[in-house]
Amino acid sequence: MTETSQIAGLDEAAAAEELARLARVLGAANTAYHGQDAPEISDAEYDALKRRNAAIEARFPALKRADSPSDLVGAAPAEGFQKVTHARAMMSLGNAFEDEDVADFDAGIRRYLGLSAEAPLAYTAEPKIDGLSLSLRYEGGRLVQAATRGDGAVGENVTGNARTISDIPQVLDGAPDVLEVRGEVYMAHEDFDALNARQETAGQKVFANPRNAAAGSLRQLDSKITAERPLRFFAYAWGDLSAPLADTQTGALMRLKDLGFSVNPLTATVASVADMIMHYKEIEAQRATLGYDIDGVVYKVDSLSYQERLGFRSTTPRWAIAHKFPAELAWTRLEAIDIQVGRTGALSPVARLTPVTVGGVVVSNATLHNEDYIAGRSATGEPIRGGKDIRVGDWVQVYRAGDVIPKVADVDLSKRPEDAVPYAFPTVCPECGSPAIREEGDAVRRCTGGLICPAQAVEKLKHFVSRAAFDIEGLGSKQVEQFYRDQWIAEPADIFTLRDRHGAGEDVLEAREGWGKKSADNLFAAIDDKRAIPLARLIFGLGIRHVGEAAASMLARHYRTWDQFSESVAQAAAQEGPAWEDLLAIDGVGQVMARALVTSFAGEAEAASIARLVAQLDVQPAEAPQTGDSPVAGKTVVFTGTLEKMTRAEAKARAEALGAKVSGSVSAKTDLLVAGPGAGSKAKKAADLGVETIDEDGWLTLIGDA
Ligand code: IVH
Repeated sequence: MTETSQIAGLDEAAAAEELARLARVLGAANTAYHGQDAPEISDAEYDALKRRNAAIEARFPALKRADSPSDLVGAAPAEGFQKVTHARAMMSLGNAFEDEDVADFDAGIRRYLGLSAEAPLAYTAEPKIDGLSLSLRYEGGRLVQAATRGDGAVGENVTGNARTISDIPQVLDGAPDVLEVRGEVYMAHEDFDALNARQETAGQKVFANPRNAAAGSLRQLDSKITAERPLRFFAYAWGDLSAPLADTQTGALMRLKDLGFSVNPLTATVASVADMIMHYKEIEAQRATLGYDIDGVVYKVDSLSYQERLGFRSTTPRWAIAHKFPAELAWTRLEAIDIQVGRTGALSPVARLTPVTVGGVVVSNATLHNEDYIAGRSATGEPIRGGKDIRVGDWVQVYRAGDVIPKVADVDLSKRPEDAVPYAFPTVCPECGSPAIREEGDAVRRCTGGLICPAQAVEKLKHFVSRAAFDIEGLGSKQVEQFYRDQWIAEPADIFTLRDRHGAGEDVLEAREGWGKKSADNLFAAIDDKRAIPLARLIFGLGIRHVGEAAASMLARHYRTWDQFSESVAQAAAQEGPAWEDLLAIDGVGQVMARALVTSFAGEAEAASIARLVAQLDVQPAEAPQTGDSPVAGKTVVFTGTLEKMTRAEAKARAEALGAKVSGSVSAKTDLLVAGPGAGSKAKKAADLGVETIDEDGWLTLIGDA
């Protein structure tokens, strides 16, 4: 019998009692596990109880306890995989949803490469497999390492598990000496159904969808378990290589096929946007009968020399895009609207729904975006959904696309309860009571409480410890919430004084439920480990509005040291003068980001809090851009006139990749002018100022691309 059928007969009182019992039993089991005592119950029993708890909570969301076992950490031994730094980063893909997005993609590539709309330009169209990506490293024709994507830069070593997958060859004949093959691990529908049936009979975890099943199976610490799971693999890309595979994507895929990999048979070479879309429709029509999940079609520029010229943005290639299939939909009841307060004070309405299955996943929460969205109008006041507002009690349509948070998309007015009233969006922060205001032009209402708002403080802390920021092992959202609630940690600086305050003496970490001497020592060590922190991570970790990972890296590269950065931002506070101009001159920094930066240091309390943090740290200066011994690193370069071998955008990207600064105008600061035919006033000015001037061929020779 499944948990779900067993709980069908529970009434609310019985459910509450059962949740209390489960919290007790699982809490004790967790303590035993962490204290490394003999475990009191088997892993399978533990998992079964946890599933039962989750099923009851899904049915009675209001009964979820503050000490719910769902929130316990570390029950499954998630540690244990070695980390692998990818020789070449594993990128993700940009998305296209509409046909126009595909046309824009093609137009952008032509612009970048300087190709006319008529010039021939081939693409591959490949199904986008909905699994998880894996990088397989072969040396001398032997599989030596398999790694998951992880965060793109660092993944997990799953070599032993990958060796159990029959689609993955252990030895290759005639491969380059070094070859990293990349592709997708997935589970076919029939295998997934059979696995779930087996799991259910054995009282084991039942997976929500094939992708989760594939991920859970590949990331098993025990390869024997992986071996029992029917995983498959399609190859579609490569990383490190000692010799090129071919001249085109199509050729490379054929070569991979010859080497013994499975390559998706629906892959086609197409010659135009119209062909891409035709192929997309053909694949979509077959989607339901393929026998495995796909969530779109990936288009890639076929020529590998074009791919190389196009290169990458921070996390995605310019030469590929994923054209996603439309999202999956379901209808359900909107039970309540809750307001969550984010790191920057934004009030976000969250729909609490009667749980419903959308594309194989149970959805009970979905985003409602903002107050205009609920009211049925866009940010510019235009009606959306035909102007229909959304009310508690309404019958609403929910949709999700891939990993994206589910959204409430539509409302069925014919099913609206008679007593439903328009939703009144709060004008005070539900967490701290400060006024919540909407600035002109901002779609979002924000709490004005700043650091006094507990929700903002906690979200800032969660962001601070997150993976792309300080990434402190053993200190995740749950621990941060608890430490904040107990007033152990109120701001980032407090993390670094935690050992002094709670390492020994009366109120010690190791005495807390769920902790022991070993886990407490590990946490303190993990914290100490992050005192030496790269500047980019620190800037990102501060959680400044509009400053994401890429922007933080840019700022770090520009200012190099913390002192330079913080002093310059403080000086820029006047919003005029050289520091302000310098900030705006950084590629990618606009008025909005610059203002957010300045504001984040402007408040006395905020500045003091940052100062307390930095006093605990050893901030590592940013390295010069990875330029090898590039002759143009650190130089300011101006391009003018017509370039014949590359477009302006391409020249700029290439120069920046080599560590040069590209400017639009010639001044005394210019180190080099690259002038093509037709160069006019800039060439003259450069001559007047004595700036070195070279032509396009000279430039290519200089940077070694000739
Ligand atoms: S190419 C540098 N091709 O989709 C480009 N990715 O949303 C690397 N995926 O992380 C990706 N099928 O896990 C590529 N035919 C295909 C794919 C594919 C599935 C996955 C892959 C990637 C994700 C991006």
